[in-house]
Amino acid sequence: MSDNNQARDTFSSKFGVIAAAAGSAVGLGNIWKFPYITGVHGGAAFLFVYLGFILAIGIPIMLSELIIGRSSKRNAFGAFKVLAPGTPWRYIGILGVGAAFLILSFYGVVAGWSIQYISLSIQNGFTNKSPEQITSLFSTLIESPIKPVALQLVFMFATGAIVIVGVKKGIEKYTKILMPMLVVILIGLCIKSVSLDGAKAGLDFLFKPDFSKLNGDAILSALGHAFFTLSLGMGTLITYGSYINKENNLVRTVISVTVADTVIAILAGIAIFPAVFAFGIAPTEGPGLIFVTLPNVFHQMPGGFAFSILFFVLLTIAALTSSISILEVVVAYFKEEFNMGRKSSTVLATILISMLGILCSLSMGILSPYTLFGLSFFDLMDWISANLMLPVGGLFIAVFTGWFYGRKKVQAEVANGGNLSGAMLSLFMFLVKFIAPIAIAIVLLNKIGLLKFS
Ligand code: PHE
Repeated sequence: MSDNNQARDTFSSKFGVIAAAAGSAVGLGNIWKFPYITGVHGGAAFLFVYLGFILAIGIPIMLSELIIGRSSKRNAFGAFKVLAPGTPWRYIGILGVGAAFLILSFYGVVAGWSIQYISLSIQNGFTNKSPEQITSLFSTLIESPIKPVALQLVFMFATGAIVIVGVKKGIEKYTKILMPMLVVILIGLCIKSVSLDGAKAGLDFLFKPDFSKLNGDAILSALGHAFFTLSLGMGTLITYGSYINKENNLVRTVISVTVADTVIAILAGIAIFPAVFAFGIAPTEGPGLIFVTLPNVFHQMPGGFAFSILFFVLLTIAALTSSISILEVVVAYFKEEFNMGRKSSTVLATILISMLGILCSLSMGILSPYTLFGLSFFDLMDWISANLMLPVGGLFIAVFTGWFYGRKKVQAEVANGGNLSGAMLSLFMFLVKFIAPIAIAIVLLNKIGLLKFS
């Protein structure tokens, strides 16, 4: 029997909402992806552009998604059917479900690497190794045809298992204890990293901007990453918003989540770049950056053995609370739009995404000769989803909220459990009506070459 007709679940407490949304936002995006793309795109200037996008585009779109979700109580696709019946707006939801497939396929692979690093840490696998040996340890792992595939499947299985039980149970407890632990571990790493010889070059790289280094690719990546890291543009927060009750203060939720996410990304940057320079690693190393940098730090610090186990355990759990939010987008869609049960939708979605994930993993090794636009399958999934689908989804979500849903309804929805002063509401409407869509359009057009700035 379908469980579709039962009363819809809601988050049980104010903290539960923030916990789930922050659990979704904080993940591999902050600790794995942010440092590596900041490295690829030249450092500080990229960081500042990214922070600008978070403020001007990320925050208003996050609030938009929560408003759309809570007022419709539907999945990413169904929400638009409820709010704008008979219009094409619902296709934004399809785009989001598609993005969820692509993102989770490579996300599971990276989470699998993190699991492997838990086991390497336990076996003391980094001691007495030179930076070069640590680098080759990583490339041997990701190129292997079996281990990373198996670990990706383990991770996807865990994601599916949690989603079957229901997203909310457990997340609240996790966030309350483990997120602060993650912050403590990161601060410990920052202290060690900053005190290494040669650390200053890393801090300069991260904080002293040279805007002449920016090009269209960097700006698009900064935009895409603002969406990726805040879990925006594909309906994750529409879906989670649909489980939020009317008493919740949406504005406060948005601010807490954004602050937590941004602080954790910056801490990750401070933990990594000084070490990158101190150990002579190239900041442009790519997706392996944290895996080839941090082990060098761990094996030099007091208590490094325990630190490194804890770090990779927490990283894996942070990945899990994000991956369940990605899978939930697809599951809620299957469940509500095709009248399937939670169990069967989860099994189906997990299997399909895992298959794509296998291709992502193999594209690091035996399938590496096959590329499209010069990108491996792994990079392609990442690039298309983060740099194209999320910004396009975000553009339409902003336009929908600003022009279609409108000020009155926004005000009424936000006023439930919260407040937005007249001036703040006007600012929000201005951002979603004009700034977000125009900025996203300019960045995308610049990339395809229709507009030329850089
Ligand atoms: N925000 C998550 C992270 O930073 C990834 C994510 C992207 C989650 C899109 C949901 C939707 O790791």
